[in-house]
Amino acid sequence: MGAKLFTPFTVKGVTLKNRIVMSPMCMYSCPNEDGMVENWHRTHYTSRAVGQAGLIILEATAVTAQGRISPNDLGIWNDDHIEGLKELAGLMKEHGSAIGIQLAHAGRKAVLEGEILAPSAIAFNEKSKTPKEMTKREIDETIEAFRKGAERSRKAGLDVIELHGAHGYLINEFLSPLSNTRTDEYGGSAENRYRFLRETIEAVKTVWNGPLFVRVSAHDYHEDGLTPEDYVQFAKWMKEQGVDLIDVSSGAVVPARINVYPGYQVKYSETIRDGAEIATGAVGLITSGVQAEEILQNERADLILIGREFLRDPYWPRAAAKELGVEIEPPKQYERGWK
Ligand code: FNR
Repeated sequence: MGAKLFTPFTVKGVTLKNRIVMSPMCMYSCPNEDGMVENWHRTHYTSRAVGQAGLIILEATAVTAQGRISPNDLGIWNDDHIEGLKELAGLMKEHGSAIGIQLAHAGRKAVLEGEILAPSAIAFNEKSKTPKEMTKREIDETIEAFRKGAERSRKAGLDVIELHGAHGYLINEFLSPLSNTRTDEYGGSAENRYRFLRETIEAVKTVWNGPLFVRVSAHDYHEDGLTPEDYVQFAKWMKEQGVDLIDVSSGAVVPARINVYPGYQVKYSETIRDGAEIATGAVGLITSGVQAEEILQNERADLILIGREFLRDPYWPRAAAKELGVEIEPPKQYERGWK
């Protein structure tokens, strides 16, 4: 049996050398609060490239300064951000990894001074700030910020764009009826709640013809919230719009108790993959090569995203290869001492 985990995956002319993706993870490592790439990012991401990740998706990167999750987030709201991202892209590619970026706006989950924006003026919980309901003009400006972020990603030579539509951030807030009670064309029916994402995807496509992924929270874990079946419809619309892959996470649009166990979100990936006939990524407590291989061989996902296990072990792909009995090339610097 050849391990599927180590077969390539090609999308819109970009070939990932294997199915292992480093999941986007905020590093809160811009101490100057300017969103610029720092040494930490160079070291942290490059280690996983040496470790042979097929694709590295940079952490949630803010398309507006005001849309940051924290003041220390990576940013792409300014042309000055292009240079650092370009350098990172070069470092990843030197080691044969593709590089993606997660374009994000925190919406009501921004923890900054001043005004925060969301589809409706509903706070996340009793401790968080009440956001301002976005005007049509603020919606248009935010979509334009995503478009500019995509354009800057292209200029930086990044391979993949992922829109952050999960975890209760702005796009997710529009999709879920729990956080979106608007009465205009952006709220109400599923089609209306999808409109913000639809227009964001269309705007991104005017400047980006490379691989486009969208991360979703496929379950709100709330009786009045969205379920994976609702996301099948959204995924069908995304597919029609040319989105290549749905990265299937869950939760965090409202506070909820989540039953977490190995592979707990894989079934949502499977539902969306089968229901919308679109490629998916599975994420969430996937920690071993055997577990990843099972998901791929049973066609429950097309890519495997590794989060915390990649924080514990930057060389996780090597451990998985060993576990699955697959030989992978060492970096040429290690070759002499490898055998
Ligand atoms: C995350 N996660 C996350 N998700 C996302 O879409 N964008 C992000 O920027 C972050 N940031 C982040 C930071 C840190 C420190 C952690 C641990 C997690 C979620 C992450 O990508 C992943 O979906 C979850 O951690 C579940 O996968 P694992 O960790 O069980 O493999």
